[in-house]
Amino acid sequence: MDKIIITGGRQLKGGINISGSKNSALPILFATLLTDEECKIKNVPTLADIKTTVDFLNFIGKPALKNKDIVKAGKSKKLNHIAPYDLVRKMRASVLVMGPLLARLGEVDVSLPGGCAIGARPIDIHLDAFKQMGANIELKDGYVKITAYSGLKGADIEFRFASVGATENVMLASALAKGTTRIINAAKEPEISDLADMLVKMGAKISGAGTKIITIEGVEKLSGCCHEVIPDRIEAATYMIATAITKGDVTLKHTNASHLSDVIDKLIQSGLNIKIKENEIKVKWVKDLKPINVKTEIYPGFPTDIQAQWMALMCVVKGSSIVEETVFENRFLHVGELQRFGADIRIEGNSVYVNGVDKLSGAPVMVSDLRAGAALVLAGLCAVGKTEVLRIYHLDRGYETLEKKLRKLGANIKRVKAD
Ligand code: EPZ
Repeated sequence: MDKIIITGGRQLKGGINISGSKNSALPILFATLLTDEECKIKNVPTLADIKTTVDFLNFIGKPALKNKDIVKAGKSKKLNHIAPYDLVRKMRASVLVMGPLLARLGEVDVSLPGGCAIGARPIDIHLDAFKQMGANIELKDGYVKITAYSGLKGADIEFRFASVGATENVMLASALAKGTTRIINAAKEPEISDLADMLVKMGAKISGAGTKIITIEGVEKLSGCCHEVIPDRIEAATYMIATAITKGDVTLKHTNASHLSDVIDKLIQSGLNIKIKENEIKVKWVKDLKPINVKTEIYPGFPTDIQAQWMALMCVVKGSSIVEETVFENRFLHVGELQRFGADIRIEGNSVYVNGVDKLSGAPVMVSDLRAGAALVLAGLCAVGKTEVLRIYHLDRGYETLEKKLRKLGANIKRVKAD
């Protein structure tokens, strides 16, 4: 397996382009199943999860092709209603195939995605919603078979938790349902609004995306569209923290700072100099940072996808801070690996107590999940000496050409092919 070698100590300087959002492109690609017409999706990042999704669309019967950052999902004929384990196990977001296939075919068999490193990742909220729309759910042999042969019906659906994926799945299912659906306690992430924008271009009738209540009035048919994916706010935040941890001076281009307000506020509170100009974010380290506590929350709170990266930064900021995780039940797998760098951190329940140290020392470390991997790379960038990052296939799922972008900013980082 490939690994990344970093020799720490370089200050990141210069400019990079932020790629399209992985977590927006995924539901948007699944949404192309809602029409037999061609859809052209732009600003799609080149990532393992995107390749998995394009392969998935082709398997289901929607001919899709990615060329540079454009995916063309062409005219489709008969769609297949079965999503097999070997596709679903690669990427949990495959559950987003449920909404479109239920809407189009009235049936879908999806292998249960199973958990992952950061938690059990159940899909009860998704399934309860489909039931309320008149679907029948059967769990058998590791598959969930969902049927609604007389079509889905609009319903008022109140979520017990503002699940991102469940919000997306219900938006996809209800776009072609009979009647009106209201999602109450919907997720408000920018990726939800981006999906709604694309569905409206296809002819869907949706209002309230980005707020707690989303209303979808089902229509008969949806047409093809052309849509550009929003910038990846998690990638942007990761590079802002990379700049902070290396005491650098970096300009991020193709960004949308309004999607990152809480992270930007916390970085400014800590002492980073941040200037926003249209779609650029200029980040400059000007003085020793102060420790700042964070508690992850649903949007617009501090993103759980930035928790690990923030923790890495606090490990080298003098003073004590607390990082509290409230979204996932097991998202501290990076703590043990950060301790290998010499970080002074300990877990107590769903919080991690951090005492900043003067310096970290490079070490061989192992990636457990995508964002934990990002945190280990950040630690390697500022650690003294050499860091070897193993199992970097997790990183390839969510960061486009990570080591190329960091090298462009002056980092001493390279990918070594497996021997
Ligand atoms: C999306 O996952 C993102 N993935 C995640 O990003 C992100 O961390 C998460 O939202 C929260 O913001 C994509 O968009 C592809 P949830 P999703 O449903 O939809 C529980 C990354 O690093 N839950 O909002 O799976 C669940 O167990 C990834 O890019 C239920 O209990 O997140 C978790 O504790 C990681 N039952 C919490 O809700 C359900 O039916 C948040 O899950 C659904 C979720």
